[in-house]
Amino acid sequence: MKNKKIRIGIAGLGTVGSGVVNLLDKNKEEIFRRTGFEIEIAAISATDKTKQRDCDITGFKFYSNPLDLIDSEQIDIIVELIGGDKVAKELVLKSIKKNIHVVTANKALIALHGNEISEISEKNQCDVAFEASVAGAVPIIKVIRESLSANKIFWIAGIINGTTNFILTKMLQTKKNFDDVLEEAKKLGYAEADPAFDIGGIDAAHKLAILSSISFGIPLDFNSIYVEGIENIELDDLNYAKELGYVIKHLAIGRRVKNGIELRVHPCLIPNTRLIANVDGVKNAVVVSSDAAGPTLYYGAGAGSLATASSVVSDIIDISRKIISKSNVSVPLQSYQQGSQSKENILNIREIKSRYYLRIRVINEPGVLARITKIFGSKSISIESILQKEDLINDEFVPIVLVTHAVVEKNITDALVDIENLEVVKDKIIKIRIEELN
Ligand code: NDP
Ligand code: HSE
Repeated sequence: MKNKKIRIGIAGLGTVGSGVVNLLDKNKEEIFRRTGFEIEIAAISATDKTKQRDCDITGFKFYSNPLDLIDSEQIDIIVELIGGDKVAKELVLKSIKKNIHVVTANKALIALHGNEISEISEKNQCDVAFEASVAGAVPIIKVIRESLSANKIFWIAGIINGTTNFILTKMLQTKKNFDDVLEEAKKLGYAEADPAFDIGGIDAAHKLAILSSISFGIPLDFNSIYVEGIENIELDDLNYAKELGYVIKHLAIGRRVKNGIELRVHPCLIPNTRLIANVDGVKNAVVVSSDAAGPTLYYGAGAGSLATASSVVSDIIDISRKIISKSNVSVPLQSYQQGSQSKENILNIREIKSRYYLRIRVINEPGVLARITKIFGSKSISIESILQKEDLINDEFVPIVLVTHAVVEKNITDALVDIENLEVVKDKIIKIRIEELN
């Protein structure tokens, strides 16, 4: 048994790559006890050999060009942990074209090029595994592709960006400002190379593209996803939501509805009684609602070195077992067989129906509320509750917080244009959708 060895090449030795090197070393015996084979790091690649790292790389063959990993060593699995869709894409495509299996944590790559990667890897009978690409340590890809494979999935909703959840949680708990908390998330290795991907919702949208494809059997279609980030959320909103019995979370939602599929990423008010409302810090959680299993919830660390490495190494083990047993049976990359994906109508955000939280800053004078509610009435929008707050800094203006009944988004958007045109209304209106998640 001892002579069974799988040789891997690791490209990228940052937060995740160093976690993988450390985990393979730390749990070497445990992994051997589970699998009966050894996973050997045959070579590694990063841009700079001399850089100070969070893992020990002495003794490993080092390449500054990751493509050299493919040709120079007898590699069974390439582990792509560089990120982005430039050199990472080249590395993955070259590997699978040479029939070398790939493990990656790269959601951008899978979301943007997964259809092509899936086709080539299937043709070349090699696997591309990407568990770490969504929700870090949470094995949500395996759950959807394997554990729930007997189900028709109705909807998925998740907190799938650790950085934004960390920021929203810390702002509310510590009253620290947005930029300070973001700095903390960067230092902890949670943020993307460009943190605008986290803050602006792009990273969560990459992940939703993956989750929706494997849940609904549709092609990966990042460009059809509606995306909003957390840039406009202020501490006041977190506090007002709390007063109303809600928590603000950045959610990714994929839902089958009568006339198609909703794919959207944006902040939401969630009732504070939902389990997912209590998912804090860098933790992620995904609710999957399906016909046989009913609603199920998956929770854990969404980012970080060892947490993400846990998913990467688990993928390495899965592929290694397949290599060692000489099996050619694979779960399709996109969960459904190639060619069986259905092209569904992805709804425009203006077509979705929701309740809304609205924060409107107005001049503090009589009759203002009546003018606003008149516009809502003209668009068939009914108000569920109103909170009128004091502005402690400037009593010339007051924030009005309104909660609406469910209405089609285009009515709200049109009403807000008219309301923002009133001379008594200051600043852009803050609009946050309310999700009941049931
Ligand atoms: P880092 O920025 O920490 O690390 C990137 C690594 O890639 C560095 O070691 C860098 O080299 C190396 N690199 C960059 N360009 C090249 C190149 N042209 N050739 C060779 N090596 C290169 O990123 P992370 O570890 O945070 O993320 C890696 C991937 O994992 C990304 O796809 C990310 O989205 C994903 N991910 C990250 C998570 C996290 O918690 N951070 C969680 C889940 C997924 P050098 O060190 O020499 O600069
Ligand atoms: N930047 C990502 C996040 C890393 O914060 O969730 C994990 O995918």
